Amino acid sequence: MAAQENGKIALRQALGAFATGVTIVTAIAAETGEPVGFTANSFTSVSLDPPLLLVCLAHTAASYRAFREADSFAVNVLAADQEETAMLFATRGADKFGATNWHPGGMGAPLIEGCLARFDCAMHQRVTAGDHDILMGRVIGFSRHEGEALLYHGGAFQRLGQG
Ligand SMILES: Cc1cc2nc3c(=O)[nH]c(=O)nc-3n(C[C@H](O)[C@H](O)[C@H](O)COP(=O)(O)O)c2cc1C
Repeated sequence: MAAQENGKIALRQALGAFATGVTIVTAIAAETGEPVGFTANSFTSVSLDPPLLLVCLAHTAASYRAFREADSFAVNVLAADQEETAMLFATRGADKFGATNWHPGGMGAPLIEGCLARFDCAMHQRVTAGDHDILMGRVIGFSRHEGEALLYHGGAFQRLGQG
């Protein structure tokens, strides 16, 4: 059992060698009408025609059920000065939206202020893959702003040009 756990930690560390940006994925919970969201670095562009992207969500996330039932979601790409927001949305049970400037996008999902890019998506496909679901979105609208990106590498937030 301990060996299995050690193997998982080693795998996670190896996967962390891949540098990524950082996003916050949001939706509105159908049941309560409340916004939900989580920090994610599993974001990937998939297709330009049609425009598709994906993100992976753990089955253990508090927001899992809301995303399972949602017919739309948004991906907010974080800027270098949004590390605190990234930590907030990675904290289960935190008041995520009370402390964040946001407004609903065209599809209803929250768009966060100050991001480098925001993608408003219709849920295209959901695929269960091990202990995560792959959420594939069809981009209905997007915006982009100049600025430095927040990065994640080796289990820590980074900025471009930092060791
Ligand atoms: C940099 C970073 C990247 C993350 N990427 C993902 C991810 O891609 N998918 C995921 O399910 N959780 C990811 N997490 C963990 C979630 O943000 C965290 O479990 C969060 O509490 C989930 O929110 P919820 O439980 O309130 O729904 C990441 C956390 C950090 C700090």
